[in-house]
Amino acid sequence: MKFFVDTAEIDAIAELNDLGMVDGVTTNPSLIKKSGRDIIEVTREICAMVDGPVSAEVTATDAETMIAEGRKLVEIAGNIAVKVPLTWDGLKACKVLSDDGHMVNVTLCFSANQALLAAKAGATFISPFIGRLDDINLDGMDLIQDIRTIYDNYGFETQILAASIRSVNHILDSARIGADVITAPPAVIKAMVNHPLTDKGLDAFLSDIKAAGIKIL
Ligand code: G3P
Repeated sequence: MKFFVDTAEIDAIAELNDLGMVDGVTTNPSLIKKSGRDIIEVTREICAMVDGPVSAEVTATDAETMIAEGRKLVEIAGNIAVKVPLTWDGLKACKVLSDDGHMVNVTLCFSANQALLAAKAGATFISPFIGRLDDINLDGMDLIQDIRTIYDNYGFETQILAASIRSVNHILDSARIGADVITAPPAVIKAMVNHPLTDKGLDAFLSDIKAAGIKIL
């Protein structure tokens, strides 16, 4: 399973990247706004740091302008994935940009039928939003499972990029189902290390180290 980091915060990406935890990065207009940075400038910095795909989202809603924006975004670096919304115009832009040989991430996916259309339009990644489905009392994991089944039934190569991840259990469930990629905020990825029995066990070891005066260096 690939780990993408869902942020435009350079320091947070760098920390995880140094540990080999970053297979790619996803950004969106809200994350760019939060960073307070210029989209081109911050995206260029991220692309220079990370080897894998870096998703940068278009701002237009019509296909023609989305395609023009996508062509500008891919000039930033060779690892840009153009992010387009799952609308009819977004699918048109996806088809043109993927036919041009660019990676395309189709975002704001909330149904398996939408995911099927994105695959047929040549999407490199489909981004189903788990957390936002959970927010309205639906089960985001049912969507991941449905897309996995449909893509496997027909051999679609579009990668399932589980997005809007809010908890470590979202990551675990995505891995169990077989999502190709998860994208999560840095804090959620880091929280995966936590376990109370690890803390308890370490406390016991530390007290024995102290009691026995064990030294290595
Ligand atoms: O990857 C999409 C993600 O940024 C959306 O997350 O928590 O705003 O639903 P959220």
